[in-house]
Amino acid sequence: MKNILPGVSWSALAALLVIGAAVGSKESQTPAAQAANKEIQTTKGNSQMDVKKESFGRLPDGTAIDIFTLTNTGGIEARLMTYGATLVSLKLPDRKGKVDDCVLGYDSLDGYVKNSPYFGSTVGRYGNRIAKGQFVLNRVTYHLAKNNGENHLHGGVKGFDKVVWSAEPMKASGGMGVKFTYFSKDGDEGYPGNLSCIVIYTLTNDNELKISYEATTDKATPVNLTNHSYFNFTGGRRDTLGHELMLHADRYTPVDKGLIPTGELAAVKGTPMDFTTPTAIGLRIAKVEGGYDHNYVLTSGGGALALAARVFEPESGRVMEISTTEPGIQFYSGNFLDGTIAGKSGRVYGKHFGFCLETQHFPDSPNKPKFPSTILKPGQKYRTQTVHKFSAK
Ligand code: BGC
Repeated sequence: MKNILPGVSWSALAALLVIGAAVGSKESQTPAAQAANKEIQTTKGNSQMDVKKESFGRLPDGTAIDIFTLTNTGGIEARLMTYGATLVSLKLPDRKGKVDDCVLGYDSLDGYVKNSPYFGSTVGRYGNRIAKGQFVLNRVTYHLAKNNGENHLHGGVKGFDKVVWSAEPMKASGGMGVKFTYFSKDGDEGYPGNLSCIVIYTLTNDNELKISYEATTDKATPVNLTNHSYFNFTGGRRDTLGHELMLHADRYTPVDKGLIPTGELAAVKGTPMDFTTPTAIGLRIAKVEGGYDHNYVLTSGGGALALAARVFEPESGRVMEISTTEPGIQFYSGNFLDGTIAGKSGRVYGKHFGFCLETQHFPDSPNKPKFPSTILKPGQKYRTQTVHKFSAK
């Protein structure tokens, strides 16, 4: 066949044809062409890999939701969607190389919209609880949405997990990523200030999933962003009580009945809260009323990236190490999963079927002057990073 554009290579021509097909109106395409063009965009992450962008359906109001697939040379695949800047699936090899999806969630958008306990989502403007949904800042009392009894939880009724983020695939050093952005208006859920947020997920060829958060504001406001993935390294075969957990934390923040910190930093030593050496999640869980749902005070103190947690699942051999710049981590053992949710492949998610390790500042910090501050001021940049490193042994 003759090259119709001299000086233009065949691969460039092919790319032009793909772009041409993608921008052609839907009406002018055959159903087969439409199906082929559903996957219209790939972005070179490096020479071997591409970020794939596909449609993940529409919200009830018609808004289109996209899903991006990241892959690496170690056989890991992560899928992320624009609704909630959510980690939808995370496929990880076990010690024999068998790959399973190791995060809870749904097969389609519908489940996430109708009933999701924050499966995989980005949580904000404030991860975890703010007591009585209020705080005082610069002598002004702010009233937040109360969506957890009398308290405010995970950003309110419509937190960052329930909004549509803009997204673009991006190149990243040693891998590929997706950059999500969201603009939260002054007054959203009661918070002061216009907040511009960026969340970047990167999958590297060193088998790391990195999540970087940035934010700026035009009025002082609390900010505490995290990711709410529920992990299950059996690949969803059974509950997570056999997973061995190590937390790099000598202290935790005890809570009252409404799960609001009392303000005390208590030692874990000699209690069922102690995970300073690897211990099965289920070993002492019965001694903790309601199960684990506590913020641990990381030994690192936050600031520089430091190891916070290690998880080992004995049957599959899968290991996850979490490093973070945050001073705290919420260990939530999936206590409120009660078998009413049928997730991926119709699997029923019972109690402790997944657990979360949410890197964060401490809950209710806006009302606890002794906790590290969560207030972001105009002119400052909020910047945190959490790295999940995966392996199998
Ligand atoms: C909280 C739990 C809450 C869960 C899901 C966790 O971060 O600590 O109390 O039930 O998120 O909503």
